[in-house]
Amino acid sequence: MAKNIILIGFMGAGKTVVGKKLAQKLGYQFVDVDREIEKLLQKPIPLIFKKYGQLRFRSEEELMLTKVCQNTETVIATGGGVILKENNRKTIANGNKVIWLQAKPETIMKRVGLGKGRPLLKGKKIEDVVQELLAKRSALYIESAHVKIETDDKNIDQVVEEIIASIKDDTNVP
Ligand code: S3P
Repeated sequence: MAKNIILIGFMGAGKTVVGKKLAQKLGYQFVDVDREIEKLLQKPIPLIFKKYGQLRFRSEEELMLTKVCQNTETVIATGGGVILKENNRKTIANGNKVIWLQAKPETIMKRVGLGKGRPLLKGKKIEDVVQELLAKRSALYIESAHVKIETDDKNIDQVVEEIIASIKDDTNVP
């Protein structure tokens, strides 16, 4: 049985909203890595990027991921860039079930809107950043995931049900 269920995927994939609902349905805890970093540093993510830079954020992210992965029976929502570090990919692979919430660039663009609250999109042409980051990251999502769930044109409940169907063999879900 997998220790935890880890949701990976690009910004706007729905990791947080889906993760909360999934945890509720499974009777698991829910943890969002970004929210835990914000609580620890007592600052919102955009301010962490602004004040300390992306490098520091990535170190905090690595530490927090290691910490939350010590849990069991937890749905863990990660930030879109978590798969960039090899060590993070090892951490999430270690005994957890990894679900990739995938979405097409058009869907991502709609969901992230004007990029509010997302420092990597701030002040940039969103289409360009999304294309550029997806080109760098898509192979890493594929490599890291046990299951891929396409989320385009689906509501939260549909995505949650698909995840539950895909993990039935690995958990004690009835
Ligand atoms: C990031 C995604 C964000 C957050 C940070 C960096 C990324 O999380 O961790 O702004 O590199 O893609 P979401 O995927 O929840 O937006």
